[in-house]
Amino acid sequence: MKQIKEKKFDVIVVGEINVDLIMNKVQSFPEIGKEKFAGDMTLTLGSSAAIFANNLSILGLKVSFIGKAGNDIFGNFCKKNLSENGVDISMLYTSDEDQTGATIVLNFDDDRANITFQGAMSTLKAEDITEEMLSMGKHLHFSSYFLQPGFEDKLDVLLRRAKQAGLTTSLDVQWDPTERWLFDYKKILPDVDIFMPNEAELINLTKEKSVEAALSVIGDYGNVIVVKKGYKGSVLLHKKRIIEGMPFLNKQVVDAIGAGDSFNAGFIFKFLCGDEIEKCQVFANLIGAISTTAAGGTGAFKSYHQLLKTAREKFGYGE
Ligand SMILES: Nc1ncnc2c1ncn2[C@@H]1O[C@H](COP(=O)(O)OP(=O)(O)OP(=O)(O)O)[C@@H](O)[C@H]1O
Ligand SMILES: [Mg+2]
Repeated sequence: MKQIKEKKFDVIVVGEINVDLIMNKVQSFPEIGKEKFAGDMTLTLGSSAAIFANNLSILGLKVSFIGKAGNDIFGNFCKKNLSENGVDISMLYTSDEDQTGATIVLNFDDDRANITFQGAMSTLKAEDITEEMLSMGKHLHFSSYFLQPGFEDKLDVLLRRAKQAGLTTSLDVQWDPTERWLFDYKKILPDVDIFMPNEAELINLTKEKSVEAALSVIGDYGNVIVVKKGYKGSVLLHKKRIIEGMPFLNKQVVDAIGAGDSFNAGFIFKFLCGDEIEKCQVFANLIGAISTTAAGGTGAFKSYHQLLKTAREKFGYGE
């Protein structure tokens, strides 16, 4: 009988890696020529893909992260954070020419204004993801299409290569800072098993006026499409069925940074456990909500034990 080769990693994450410098309790919006106070600040692991990798590893999967960092203090800080939380970084590229990027986050309750310097992430190329790398995982997750020009018009090829190598795939495009929203969903989505935009991103990508209209346009091309709706939870389209996912409402949000990436981690965790799509959505809403209970994208993800405790005590889950 043919032996099925055991994979080294459950999930290969491809995407950006940078730090977040989060300014909280900001006095008011910045103005040219003036100085304002922030009430406190946090320097933490940022970037959608790295937060996803970190939180998925805390949930218990074997995760490897592929991206590009600079050979500098921020790069070392990110790598240390990821490896301390069990993420494999042996395939992460380090560049002597580029700096590790940073996002300055001005945090206002559950929304925020970000400024990102891309740095090394902007020189990672689709061709840097080799067949050998892909062969080590069961699932490929890609995040932040518009921040990584090295994948422009090449993401479909990467996803197809992953599918041909037998991986399942997920994609979170994230925000487009240029707001051009050039994303060929007809070409890309057929190779995406789980597509995970938020409401505003979905509307911009499809140029439709509502989530419902957008889903009806995009639905024919995708497999599972799950749309994040902040404190309103999520909505999912699967086999022409729309499923609303109620939120685990957190009325005392510390910040919503990385809530979407944590949601993605919760969803992919259950998906790879073989759970039904509805259960993946419920768990994703829980993990997204847990993310809002602590500062930054990984603050609430220190250990699996602590996650369960927060789930039980704050959201009555698993009692
Ligand atoms: N106040 C809240 N209470 C409970 N759950 C929340 C709250 N805010 C967000 N969530 C959960 O987190 C999920 C993702 O949040 P959101 O819609 O902000 O994602 P996003 O915009 O993609 O975020 P990101 O900035 O991480 O990319 C939501 O679908 C919801 O399940
Ligand atoms: Mg998001």
